[in-house]
Amino acid sequence: MLKLPGLIDPHVHLREPGQTHKEDWDSGTSAALAGGVTVLLAMPNTRPPIFDAATLNLALAAAKAKARCDYAQFLGAGPGNAEWGRHKALPLRAAGLKMYLDSTFGELRLDDMTLWQQHFQTWPRDLPIVAHSESRSMAAVILMAAIYDRPVHIAHISLKEEVLLIKAAKEKGIKVTCEVCPHHLFLTKDDIPPSPLHPSPNGRGDGGEGRLSVRPRLATKEDVDVLWANLDVIDCFATDHAPHTLAEKDGENPPPGFPGVETMLPLLFTAVSDGRLTIDQIIEKSVINPRKIFSLPKQPETWVEVDENARYELHAADLHSRCGWTPFEGWQVRGRVRRVTLRGREAFKDGRALVKPGYGRNVRE
Ligand code: DOR
Ligand code: ZN
Repeated sequence: MLKLPGLIDPHVHLREPGQTHKEDWDSGTSAALAGGVTVLLAMPNTRPPIFDAATLNLALAAAKAKARCDYAQFLGAGPGNAEWGRHKALPLRAAGLKMYLDSTFGELRLDDMTLWQQHFQTWPRDLPIVAHSESRSMAAVILMAAIYDRPVHIAHISLKEEVLLIKAAKEKGIKVTCEVCPHHLFLTKDDIPPSPLHPSPNGRGDGGEGRLSVRPRLATKEDVDVLWANLDVIDCFATDHAPHTLAEKDGENPPPGFPGVETMLPLLFTAVSDGRLTIDQIIEKSVINPRKIFSLPKQPETWVEVDENARYELHAADLHSRCGWTPFEGWQVRGRVRRVTLRGREAFKDGRALVKPGYGRNVRE
C-alpha cells in the first residue's frame, strides 16, 4: 500500500446553493474523499453565484454543515463587485477570485476589459486570482498580470498554443501558473461520437458534443500530446469536477462539464503504470504546488493509502457524485484509494465516507 499526502483539488463545482440535484457539499466532498482529495477549492458559479458577503455566507453555511473534507470557497468577479478596496475582510475569507473571461456554465462572465483591470487593481495582490480564459483571452489576462505585476493562475489549459504561451511567459518572469484537467489529458475531440443532429460534431463552436460537452472543449490529439510533452510547464492537476445529471447531459441542450474528482487519481496512476508520469509528479502537482499557489495550510495527520497495483474498471455506479455518470465509464485503470485519514480520523475506507457531514474545515478560517 502506497501512502500519499492528501491531494488538493483547486477546481471543483459543488452546485450548492441552488442546484443540489446535481451535487451538494455532502455528495461532492464524499466524492472528493473517494478520490483521495482532502482539500478542495469550490467554484462560485452556483445559483445564486457567490460574489459578495451575503452569498459567500450562504455557501459557507452549507459547507460548514455538510462538508466531509476540508475546503475553501471562491468569490466570482462580476460587474458590480470590482471595488475590493471597500471590502477588505471579504477576500481573506475566500479561496481566491475567479474571473470568467470566456463562455461557460452559469451567469458569471466578464466581457468588459476595464472590469478585468479594476479587479486586477483592487483584489489584494497576495491573494489568488484564477482565470477561466481560453486562447487569446488567456494571452490578454497574462498581459494584465504582467502590467499589474501580480500572479494569475490559469484554469484548465487544453491547447498547444496555451501551454507554449505560458512557457514563454514564465521564461520572461511573468507570475503565471496553470492547471490541467484529466479529461484534457486523456480524451480528445475524436472521442465525441458523431451525431445525426449535428453533422459536424467535432469542430469548435458548433455544439453537438452531447454528453462530452465541456468548456474548454476537448482538443485535438496534437494539443493533448503537447500538453503531455510540457508537463513541467503545468503547475497543478485540477479536476474541474462539474457534475450535471445524465438526463441533463443527454437532453436537448447539454450543459458543459464532466464529473472528475473521483476518477483523477486512478487515471493518473494508470499513466504512472504506462510510464508517462511519476508519483513524484503527482505529489508535486496535486499537493506541493497547489498548496503554494493558493497558500493552503498543511493538514496534520492526513494521508491517502493507495493500492497501486489494483486493476479495475471505472463505473458510475461505484462513484459518489450525485450526477450518475462519468466520461470514463468502463475504462480499465490502475490504483485504488483504500483509505483516507484526515486530521487523525479515518475519513474514507473501502468505498465509504466514514466522517460525518460537517467534519470538513474551512481552511481560510
Ligand atoms: O465545462 C465546464 N463546466 N466548464 C466550466 O468552466 C464550468 C463548468 C460547470 O460549472 O459546469
Ligand atoms: Zn470550472
